[in-house]
Amino acid sequence: MAHPVPIQFRDPDLEALASLPGRIVILAGEGGALGPGAKRVNKLMRGAVERYVASDAFAKMKQGDAQDLAWPAGLAADAVQVVRLDKRADVTTARKAGGSIGAKLGKAGTTVLADGLLRAADLSFGLVLRAYEFTAHKTGEHTPPGPVTFMVAGPEAVAAAASPLAALAEGVFFTRDLVNEPANILTTDDFAARLAAMQELGLEVEILEEADLTKLGMGALLGVGQGSESPSKVVVMQWNGGPKDQPPFALVGKGVVFDTGGISIKPAGGMEEMTMDMGGAGVVSGVMRTLALRGAKANVVGLVGIVENMPDGKAIRPGDVLTSMKGDTIEVINTDAEGRLVLADVMWYAQERFKPSGMINLATLTGAIIVALGHENTGVFSNNDALCNAFLKAAAAEGEGAWRMPMGEAYDAKLKSRIADMMNVGGRDGGAITAAQFLARFVKPEVPWCHLDIAGTALLKSDTALAPKGATGWGVMALNRLIKDMYEG
Ligand code: BES
Ligand code: MN
Ligand code: ZN
Repeated sequence: MAHPVPIQFRDPDLEALASLPGRIVILAGEGGALGPGAKRVNKLMRGAVERYVASDAFAKMKQGDAQDLAWPAGLAADAVQVVRLDKRADVTTARKAGGSIGAKLGKAGTTVLADGLLRAADLSFGLVLRAYEFTAHKTGEHTPPGPVTFMVAGPEAVAAAASPLAALAEGVFFTRDLVNEPANILTTDDFAARLAAMQELGLEVEILEEADLTKLGMGALLGVGQGSESPSKVVVMQWNGGPKDQPPFALVGKGVVFDTGGISIKPAGGMEEMTMDMGGAGVVSGVMRTLALRGAKANVVGLVGIVENMPDGKAIRPGDVLTSMKGDTIEVINTDAEGRLVLADVMWYAQERFKPSGMINLATLTGAIIVALGHENTGVFSNNDALCNAFLKAAAAEGEGAWRMPMGEAYDAKLKSRIADMMNVGGRDGGAITAAQFLARFVKPEVPWCHLDIAGTALLKSDTALAPKGATGWGVMALNRLIKDMYEG
């Protein structure tokens, strides 16, 4: 498993700067303002930093951007990285600046002269998130980055502020590892085993096997998995850190470890990307890990439906009718619209068993949400304005893009079937919305609910400020904050 790079926080030591190995990071604020550490570096470099911050190049930099001054005269370091960041920068900007540092960590170590930066803990958090690497399948030597040291005023207070963020980073990394993992490694068995291992953290983890799911009547979920050699499962993770009588909040994730489309098979080009189709389950798992690691004072239950969608002699066909746990029958028009079949049963089970105070499901559900929103925002669908707005607020505070989409009866009508209670697809137009309408049929009216379609945000083809290309872990931070906002004052 990938773990966050450890960071040491210590008092500034200006005398040590000339002989530090590796990389030195300095911050330059509005008008090129330098703190005491940066000033000392400038002096050792005979004014090179001052010349840089007076240049047009610096003037064009945005807050959080960085520039390397390589092989600096007067220092033993390999490079001085100048990060444009104001002393009073907000959380998002400080994290972005940290990302600029984390993208370029050196093997010989990195010393960050944070001087009097107010958001030093967020700077370190951004650094950690961006420094993530998925190296599980790279052979040959892989040298991790050298030690990272923050020289900062009041290092104890900064370290204390960084500690809950470390739990958050562990959750994000857990999600990214799961989403990046190929499907021959992350089989349904392997996924469930990784979740069962979280019992060590104090989570209560149960694995429901196919026999249990049959007994529960989960015909929709089982239908999706019946063409695979890997057994379908539902994993239930409970974190009970809140008052005994408080009903839990439920998080439900789509965990399709590989989506070929089934008999309605997908085109070959790009199909490899469908190793990420367990992204919803990955986020739920990462949030549960964070809640446990930071000892959240809330009751939260995470449920994931883990299946593989394969074409086979035993696979479901277009035209088949499945009976869901709720009892509603579903005509399968397209076996590639499988995620909603999985979620329908897990969401129904979550409500029947736990009577949750609210429920949020996450899924890489539709290509249509990518057409609508691109890769910048997750599509948010909801039956409850208060929950939806609370989520959007939490996502904005964490810098995770989220945009509410419409729902309504006219969309629901598209799901009408000639021979069953509903079809599993509603046509091409508004495909992300009709998918949400399908899910809504499995939500009890009294349960506040949001559906997050993360097909466009779970995995990216290019680097971002806080993640290298690949799995992003989108949603772990927003959901962790939402739980905190709702239950932890
Ligand atoms: N897993 C896919 C959706 C997806 C597409 C996720 C691209 C990530 C990137 C989902 O199971 C699917 O195949 N959806 C179909 C639904 C259609 C058949 C109604 C789609 O979006 O094409
Ligand atoms: Mn599909
Ligand atoms: Zn899918």
